[in-house]
Amino acid sequence: MTASLTHSHAQWSSRMGFVLAATGSAVGLGNIWKFPYMIGQSGGAAFVLIYLLCIAMIGLPILVAEWMLGRRGQKNPINTMSELARKNGRSQAWMLVGLSGVLGAFLILSFYSVIGGWALAYVGDAIGGGFRGLTAESAGALFTGMLGNPGTLLLWHTAFMLLTVGVVAMGVTGGLERGAKVLMPALGILLLIMVVYGMTTGGFGAAVSYLFNPDWSLVTGEVILAALGHAFFTLSLGMGIMMAYGSYLGQDVDLLRTARTVVIMDTVIAIAAGLAIFPIVFANSLDPAAGPGLIFVTLPLAFGNISGGALLGLAFFLLLTFAALTSAISLLEPIVEFVEERTPFNRITATVVAGLATWALGIAALLSFNAWSEILIFGLTVFDLLDQLTSKFLLPLTGLGVILFAAWCLDKDSVRKELGLGETGFTLWQVITRYVAPAGVLVVFFSSL
Ligand code: PHE
Repeated sequence: MTASLTHSHAQWSSRMGFVLAATGSAVGLGNIWKFPYMIGQSGGAAFVLIYLLCIAMIGLPILVAEWMLGRRGQKNPINTMSELARKNGRSQAWMLVGLSGVLGAFLILSFYSVIGGWALAYVGDAIGGGFRGLTAESAGALFTGMLGNPGTLLLWHTAFMLLTVGVVAMGVTGGLERGAKVLMPALGILLLIMVVYGMTTGGFGAAVSYLFNPDWSLVTGEVILAALGHAFFTLSLGMGIMMAYGSYLGQDVDLLRTARTVVIMDTVIAIAAGLAIFPIVFANSLDPAAGPGLIFVTLPLAFGNISGGALLGLAFFLLLTFAALTSAISLLEPIVEFVEERTPFNRITATVVAGLATWALGIAALLSFNAWSEILIFGLTVFDLLDQLTSKFLLPLTGLGVILFAAWCLDKDSVRKELGLGETGFTLWQVITRYVAPAGVLVVFFSSL
């Protein structure tokens, strides 16, 4: 019981620690392969501009709203919403917002850990010299061979989940914060090494023009929707994560300034990832195609055939593992905070229980690549179902609930004071959070159905 007592007073030890942990959550697989690819395909600098607008109008306000609700509630997302609803004289139904956040985190982590396991498996391959002399066929076979083998997938999924549980079990300052303080600088250094290497290849110029040449003709309605969706996903919104992180936040932290820092770091790292990956792709005349293929087939092919490729491959898959791990840690936190506060379990037991449940669901997800590939629910494999259910329903609806509650149900004066805004600034905040951001989320929601 003492653990849960001290827990309710758990707090980040410094603003820096909090910034790193939140950035660690934000920087994930989305930054390393999705964003760079989206820029290249969707109009370069033109897309970056649209994306930044989406971040400013939707991502950043919802991020601030999640932190604000968490800091006011001081509890897991479900209890926080229930308490804030009560304090502000609103219906207890608002609790559902917290519930769908925690549920979303649980479902996402189950399959996110499977992908984190792929990254870890490729670290193993890089160390064992498994990329040497790969051809296009054998690189493809390496990946499909892994997917087809439930034992291999289970091994790496389990290893990845153990790492995640190990960090989260050590608590907010001793685990989340300390983990981020080690992993984020390491990620930065690895990324820097890869970008510097990229500059020495003949492909850097081609990568820069792929990423930045503004081409407005590529900007379609679909591209704008993708930018909107990504602004949401990349900041880890709508999963109760940022709400949980906010519940450990001291009153003295300036939310708007901190959100700006996190958003800038997230974007810079995503762009740097593009400058790390595409020079290698273009220098070796490979296809800058999308998705897991780029990361797990195309790049290993390059690493297996360039000098220094073994070390570079190791650096890259470590980078990917660290990015996935800090995000997985953040996904487990709201679930653990909930279990810890709702049961007599201490921090460690709560983490093991939450981790075990997530791990078990992950097994169903990894079997959908092999033994259960024929089992379809609504025409989708378990893996795809988990992915679609969360990204299309739970996340946007949670995000919408968060922003609506923060904008319409909290006492205006206290919000203005908390954000340190003047008359004009607060009016702008209100217009964005009451109308612009909810409308944006709704547009994404309905168009994805
Ligand atoms: N923000 C992460 C990214 O950009 C995605 C993420 C999803 C993080 C789910 C945590 C949980 O990749």
